[in-house]
Amino acid sequence: MASSVKKAVKTLKLLGRRKRCLGPIHRFDRRSDATGNVQRSGIRGGMLKTSIDSFLDAPGLKDRMIASELRVRPDEAKRIYFNWNLPAFLWEAILTSKTLQAAMTDYLGPRVRLDDLYVKSVMDGLNATAEGWHDDNVGYRVKVFMVFDTEGNPSGTVVVPTERPHLYDIRIKDEISRFLFKPKTDEREGAVRVAYQPGDCLVFDTNIPHRGDYHSGQGIRYCVVAEFIHRDKANALRGLAPCGPGQSLHRIRIPALSGVDVRNHPLIDPDILEADGDGWLCGYR
Ligand SMILES: [Fe+2]
Repeated sequence: MASSVKKAVKTLKLLGRRKRCLGPIHRFDRRSDATGNVQRSGIRGGMLKTSIDSFLDAPGLKDRMIASELRVRPDEAKRIYFNWNLPAFLWEAILTSKTLQAAMTDYLGPRVRLDDLYVKSVMDGLNATAEGWHDDNVGYRVKVFMVFDTEGNPSGTVVVPTERPHLYDIRIKDEISRFLFKPKTDEREGAVRVAYQPGDCLVFDTNIPHRGDYHSGQGIRYCVVAEFIHRDKANALRGLAPCGPGQSLHRIRIPALSGVDVRNHPLIDPDILEADGDGWLCGYR
């Protein structure tokens, strides 16, 4: 009894926090709708399936990623591997791609920033609440999933493409199910299952309904995730919803880069940037 009361209180608190986010999310997402150019972005219905080498304008990049320290096999017991220390060649590719920069600016408007960048490699069988239908509860925000390598036949991601404007709302039923560890995985109208081959890149707005699908396949996906968001919105949501470099928990290091003016780069937010040795630290202190 006591535990079910505790659960109910926790759920109500979570929903209260979500409600506090609604105002800022709507305010800044309306600005993205007004200042962006979704049609031109190429991200139709909130998703674009492409390849790493073409989206980053960098032929051979996928092969370089496979041969680098980025490719770490997740531990069998944990089944997931995270790393926020990324090599200079990948930062340089991301910050010099005109294709990526144009797509992100068109989709989110000129106040877009690169909000986070990390390795997230997953071995199938992971038990995660991300397996149930959800959105990321931050409104419009783009994740670029760079699946640079795979082993076996890894599970994919399921999304329901949705046209903008599509202002965020709290999915109360899905949220409660997830919170009670009973994620919903039912079939939904219009859902598209995205499978991954080495070199695939899925660009998608985490505001559209989606779910990870960690049990349908058998394999490993080696992946780097880049996140893009309206910078003023991310700052307004700090502490309320998961966004910000290092998910707001820690700063991320940008190493010394050649051919990139980091401080003046349109996708870098100088307000959360600090010089650190020959590189930079990016994020909240
Ligand atoms: Fe998600």
